[in-house]
Amino acid sequence: MKDLAARHGDDAIITTDQLRQLAYNEKMAELGKISAGLVHELNGPLTVIISASQIILREEGVPEAVQEMISRIGSEAHRLSQLTKGLLNFSSHDETISDVDLNLTIDFILNFVKFEAARRAVIVLKKLDHTLPTVRLDGNLLKQILMNIIMNALQAMEESGGKLLVETTHAETDAVRFIISDNGPGIPIETIDHIFNRYFTTKKQGEGTGLGLFVTKRLVESMGGNIEVTSRMGGGTTFTVTLPIEK
Ligand SMILES: Nc1ncnc2c1ncn2[C@@H]1O[C@H](COP(=O)(O)OP(=O)(O)O)[C@@H](O)[C@H]1O
Ligand SMILES: [Mg+2]
Repeated sequence: MKDLAARHGDDAIITTDQLRQLAYNEKMAELGKISAGLVHELNGPLTVIISASQIILREEGVPEAVQEMISRIGSEAHRLSQLTKGLLNFSSHDETISDVDLNLTIDFILNFVKFEAARRAVIVLKKLDHTLPTVRLDGNLLKQILMNIIMNALQAMEESGGKLLVETTHAETDAVRFIISDNGPGIPIETIDHIFNRYFTTKKQGEGTGLGLFVTKRLVESMGGNIEVTSRMGGGTTFTVTLPIEK
């Protein structure tokens, strides 16, 4: 691309690299909307598959092997249908404050990124405290926080075939906490102070925007919570997020 200074807004001049990044972000945003439409379209056929398999299973004289196959088709279609419903709900822009179960939200996101973990051969472990109270907040924003932190961890473990541990616990007074640890390469001391800065990224052009943790930290703070990071070169990284039960 020619190195022209594109005009952004009234007079802000942006570089070709920034223009490429903005174009990419815009493309992904549009693709996201189109995908949401496509996913919505999947619901119809999935419902047909689920009910058809139930009807077949109620028939008499269906050989056992066929029954087994149909029942697998039905349960896979059901799984997909749950995933698409969850995806549509997650992609919504509307604010919906409600009593949110942190453990269920973690399960949703881990299910959502399952393929991303599997293709990097990352083992995902959970240690969830099932006595946690619900937290009153926007569940979709909590999902975004979890997704940002978990995707960063998975991206950091690109080659290592690592481990991801997600824990939940009670925090001090009226707060819950989740801890996400990876055994990736860690964050060097000279960069750890910058990771929450806007546009700070160590990833290649097109792979990182440097906005994930910037947005994450501000979302956590808008919920009245806080986020901390500890990391050791070669020793992995841990993000700890504490959220008040009621803001
Ligand atoms: N779990 C992690 N392990 C190693 N580095 C990390 C981890 N999480 C975040 N980082 C570092 O923080 C930077 C900023 O992250 P983020 O704000 O999400 O932007 P991006 O993912 O687009 O680079 C990353 O580029 C990476 O250098
Ligand atoms: Mg990121």
